[in-house]
Amino acid sequence: MDKILVHGGHPLSGSIKISGSKNSALPILAATLLTREPCVLRHVPDLSDTNYMLQILTHLGAGVERASGTVSVRAEKVESVAPYDVVRKMRASVCVLGPLLGRCSEATVSLPGGCIIGDRPIDLHLKGFEALGAAIRVENGNVKVFAPNLHGAVINLRGKFGPTVLGTDNVLMAAVLAEGTTVIEGAAAEPEVCDLADFLNKMGAKIEGAGTRRMIIEGVKELHGAEHAIIPDRIEAGTFLVAGAVCGNGITINRVEPKHVSAVTSALTDAGFQLQSTKDTITVSPNGALKPLKLTTEPYPGFPTDMQAQMCALLSTTDGISVVTENIFPQRYMHLAELKRMGARVEIEGATATIQGVEQLLGAPVMASDLRASAALVLAGLKAEGVTEISRVYHIDRGYEHLDEKLGALGAHIERVKAD
Ligand code: EPU
Repeated sequence: MDKILVHGGHPLSGSIKISGSKNSALPILAATLLTREPCVLRHVPDLSDTNYMLQILTHLGAGVERASGTVSVRAEKVESVAPYDVVRKMRASVCVLGPLLGRCSEATVSLPGGCIIGDRPIDLHLKGFEALGAAIRVENGNVKVFAPNLHGAVINLRGKFGPTVLGTDNVLMAAVLAEGTTVIEGAAAEPEVCDLADFLNKMGAKIEGAGTRRMIIEGVKELHGAEHAIIPDRIEAGTFLVAGAVCGNGITINRVEPKHVSAVTSALTDAGFQLQSTKDTITVSPNGALKPLKLTTEPYPGFPTDMQAQMCALLSTTDGISVVTENIFPQRYMHLAELKRMGARVEIEGATATIQGVEQLLGAPVMASDLRASAALVLAGLKAEGVTEISRVYHIDRGYEHLDEKLGALGAHIERVKAD
């Protein structure tokens, strides 16, 4: 298994380009199952998660071709069963349920198991399918949904932790082929949901209200092939902005949508950094004394849970007391135990972490526990004294395209080594 070694204390400068969004690409790839015609997607990031999704599509009978960032999918015929062996590696596999239900009137997908960032049920996805007229059976670890005729309905998808992103995607992908009008109340408004709705509309769907809490879908009889460019990854962008804040003399990220990262840029501005944006670039530079922060994760456009770990890495060396509250996945704090091993001073009570900034972190062997936690450890390592050795880096490869190479291009001393 590979390890990443970060030799701390080398300031970053220069510019890098942001890749296509993982969390857009996954449901959009699944949406190609909704038509027998070819679809062409650009800026699909080369990640283990997108590669798993391509394997799932292939297993379901689609023809898939990848040439660099462009992926062509033709799902002339599709199977409706995605077994455990095929889907177990990635929770987001669950988003094939909606398109399979829409296209084949039934779908069987192995239920996603536990997850390090907390309990991740799919009850809201299933509630949405039921409202569209589907019957649901859970047996032998699989969930089977079937509906000879999907019909429009008014569905409220808000759960106790707010809207659900993949749940909204899933119900949307089933509703586009349902008979009549569907209204999704409490819809997720994340940019990735808007990107999926844009793609579905290019395929002939009739969706209004993407980006708001109320989406209206007029069902159509069939969808056709379409071409689409995936939006830039706002979490990769945020991660590089925090890298520039942790250890930068001024870095610029290109191919970014500044509006999508405004919660992160405002937090960095509040912390004392200078942020300058153009239409599709953002530069982060030091700007004197730093301030601690009070941050709460929220659904978009609030501060994203997927940036909480990286921000904790920055705050661990920001003088003063910062308070971070995780509202989306209240147990998503595995990275803090590892940051403590590097000298961070943190206390967790319930969903709130109190971070007392220290002057310096010290490199240490640490273990990545999930995708964003791994990124946080890399960021901490950039500033720490000595070497930070991060194991289980397959988590990073799930969601960051060439993170080590991109950081290396900015001047980080970072290497990937093969380990037993
Ligand atoms: N929830 C329910 N019932 C459901 C679905 C969700 O109670 O049926 C709860 C979850 O347990 C959580 C909250 O609702 O407390 C929000 O979860 P959501 O469904 O929005 O998460 P998701 O759609 O499974 C996506 C991203 C995650 C990101 C979350 C929140 C993808 C592939 N994944 O997950 O991304 O953290 O939205 O923004 O889009 C990551 O990229 O590292 C990552 C974990």
